[in-house]
Amino acid sequence: MQVPENFLWGGAIAAHQAEGAYNTDGKGLSVADVMTAAGNFDERRITNGVKTGEFYPNHEGIDFYHQFPEDIKLFAEMGFKCFRTSIAWSRIFPNGDEEEPNEAGLKFYDRLFDECHKYHIEPVVTLSHFEMPYHLVTEYGGFRSRKVLDCFVHFAQAVITRYQHKVKYWLTFNEINNQTNYDRAFTLFTNSGVQIHEGENAEAVMYQAAHYEVVASAKVVKFAHELNSNLLIGAMVAFSPVYPATDKPDDLLKAQRAMQSRFWFSDVQVEGSYPAWLRKYQAAKQFNLDITDADLAVLKQGQVDYLGFSYYMSFATAARPGEDEFYSYNEATDLVENKYVPKSDWGWQVDPKGLRYALNWMNDRYHLPLFVVENGIGAIDKLTVSHQVHDDYRIKYLRDHIKQMELAINDDGIDVMGYTPWSAIDIVSASTGQLSKRYGFIYVDRDDQGNGSLKRYRKDSFYWYQKVISTRGEKLGDEYADDSK
Ligand code: BG6
Repeated sequence: MQVPENFLWGGAIAAHQAEGAYNTDGKGLSVADVMTAAGNFDERRITNGVKTGEFYPNHEGIDFYHQFPEDIKLFAEMGFKCFRTSIAWSRIFPNGDEEEPNEAGLKFYDRLFDECHKYHIEPVVTLSHFEMPYHLVTEYGGFRSRKVLDCFVHFAQAVITRYQHKVKYWLTFNEINNQTNYDRAFTLFTNSGVQIHEGENAEAVMYQAAHYEVVASAKVVKFAHELNSNLLIGAMVAFSPVYPATDKPDDLLKAQRAMQSRFWFSDVQVEGSYPAWLRKYQAAKQFNLDITDADLAVLKQGQVDYLGFSYYMSFATAARPGEDEFYSYNEATDLVENKYVPKSDWGWQVDPKGLRYALNWMNDRYHLPLFVVENGIGAIDKLTVSHQVHDDYRIKYLRDHIKQMELAINDDGIDVMGYTPWSAIDIVSASTGQLSKRYGFIYVDRDDQGNGSLKRYRKDSFYWYQKVISTRGEKLGDEYADDSK
């Protein structure tokens, strides 16, 4: 089995997890700069500004800001056709609400994208990947404010205009639907710069922030289409399918509502309108949201060109006793164990077939080209004395998922634009701030406390992926047993 000739093989990272240089060349503080590191199962702490004595792993990241030429060269050696990264908003607008962009920040991404093109690597760029200027949080409360919608559009217009001849593929908000987990402080903060105050209804605040984001996304899509017809603007969701725990009709309805709750974001971004169930739900819950007729008209004018998604794991849910007629879904409390799939060391359920399901589900619903822009496994890697990393577990994970993607392409006839596993190179984990939760094809010598030479080493998966790309997905490495059947 192979993928089409023009398939975009590559790898992905995000600015705040890799670049470091958090206050270089005029960059302002971002939400990622006030988050500490945690352990495997703890949450990162959000501090009130940068505090002395705290360790902030994103401040240095893997120093991609200075070392990117060497890193892009390694990506080219693997055969990347594309490279997904994001633009740090606070490099361009340090506070977020300025009129004029910071030229030094713009120049950095000029150099980065030029370096990619030197090797015929297409940049795939996310506008908002879990970071916004911290000033927008302290001044306006993040995306709970309509003002921030305007600031985001201003930022997006500046960078799309600047890079329109260097970047064709754009994504608006990374994993916009993570916010379905509105009870988790980390999620609302990283997605939307929102912090919940005592006594507030987090679900209502999430719906408000997400509304401003889908409107901002539509405005950006419309702007880009009018600016340059070559540009393709996508939405980006975290696709974790929610399976019913049993064949009880209540569990099925619950799982259906879970899927609706997780995917109304892309429904709006693809179809240009809200699903009816959600407006009824929001009214019944008396959320009292600021959703105007003008906003609803904007949504219709900015439908995305493709749908990007991350796929790491699947979930399962069961109805609660005495469930109300809405089968309302709260991700913090409504997930149950799925005994049929194993888990990673960080408790993420490993389910390759869920990727084929994901592709079919989205294809049936959206009829748009799909782009797997994240997929991978966080694991502890060991660098040997001869500087090798034998990461057969990573190869196996990726191999089993690529196989399912190839079935979706070849047997199910689905239009998949490309595959950019997470991550191209080891970077700081978004949820834990650890470097030891490694995803990359390239090992970076750095530990969870910020020690290490930052030197790069090719892992076994580097050579394996090189072969996958050069054979268009035909040679997946038979020595890695496929027990996904
Ligand atoms: C996705 C994010 O949720 O998963 C990435 O888009 C993140 O930013 C990736 O790094 C893996 O998650 P984590 O928390 O293990 O880094």
